[in-house]
Amino acid sequence: MTATPGNPGQPGDPVLGHLPDFPDGAATPARYVADGREVAVLVVRRGAELLAYLDLCPHQYLPLTWRGPRVLSGDGERLRCTNHGAEFAVADGRGLSGPGSACGLTPVPLRLDPDGTVPVGGGPGPASN
Ligand code: FES
Repeated sequence: MTATPGNPGQPGDPVLGHLPDFPDGAATPARYVADGREVAVLVVRRGAELLAYLDLCPHQYLPLTWRGPRVLSGDGERLRCTNHGAEFAVADGRGLSGPGSACGLTPVPLRLDPDGTVPVGGGPGPASN
């Protein structure tokens, strides 16, 4: 799911961080709390665009980052699970290869506020600033 600038969101939306917390061309693990539960996500930044998915592989429901944080392919187009190598498209989370290819990652909606704050929530759409 991509972050949408200008979406008003909801008061009290959990904040994942600020735009500089997510290096360009990287998949950055982040966490927030919702309904009293901690939620682990991966945030991929591509320029001013942010995409986020649960850090949870649909193959065996382990974190993609279980064996380390390096999950983004060199071309920035695929997320690779560190457990058994399933690959998913960064653009939409769909399975591409490996044991998770029939499934997909769960998108997490983000918002990019004008001050660079990145809350969870908001509608789908491309992000830019
Ligand atoms: S848990 Fe991700 S590929 Fe098996």
